[in-house]
Amino acid sequence: MVEISTSILSVETGNEAETFLLLEKSKTDYFHIDVMDGKFVKQDTYQKMIQYSNYIKRISNLPLDVHLMVEDVETGIEVFSADEPNIITFHLEACKTKEDVIKNINLIKEKGSRVGIAIKPETPIEEIYQYLPYIHMCLIMTVEPGKGGQTLITDMIKKISTLKNYIEKNNLEIDIEVDGGINLKTAPRVKSAGANILVAGTAILMASDYKVIIDELKN
Ligand code: DX5
Ligand code: ZN
Repeated sequence: MVEISTSILSVETGNEAETFLLLEKSKTDYFHIDVMDGKFVKQDTYQKMIQYSNYIKRISNLPLDVHLMVEDVETGIEVFSADEPNIITFHLEACKTKEDVIKNINLIKEKGSRVGIAIKPETPIEEIYQYLPYIHMCLIMTVEPGKGGQTLITDMIKKISTLKNYIEKNNLEIDIEVDGGINLKTAPRVKSAGANILVAGTAILMASDYKVIIDELKN
């Protein structure tokens, strides 16, 4: 079954509480917390995402899906594990060595969260293979990380199916999450390629009825 993780990056300021509660009522499966440090990507959403994460933790039991687009992964894990997120995902491109990657994987596990590794569009899928036995989810960015409202890069469809085939061939149990430009038009293609967690921000937040769009993205 496909799950939906709603990105709260573009939630209208001043309307946060109402939006979060409406999203919960509309049965999003996760809240996707887009943490940006202004270094790994241009935008800086760090403080805002700390507030949102704390707030959602207080008002909802829905799982948090934290996407760290930061250079200092270790600090990001420490800060955001305070809200006991279900998943913490960091970028492979933010790690200088294999030891760094393993250290971040182990730190997330120590904090009791599931581990995700994200890769940018230009990073070959093969670079993630060696870490798959140790993680729970691979996040394939279907846009350049850094902002919402972009168009899905169609070359990424092939990347999803290549990863799916590799996972099946090696009898691994890994979720494939896709993030960026996911809407009613692109969702069927990423699902048939093998994605089972779809992140959507704009497509959901601009809809008049969140439940309708979430149900349609799922089915
Ligand atoms: C981009 C973020 C995505 C983005 C998704 O760097 O990682 O989660 O907010 O937004 P949409 O669904 O609007 O492309
Ligand atoms: Zn994201």
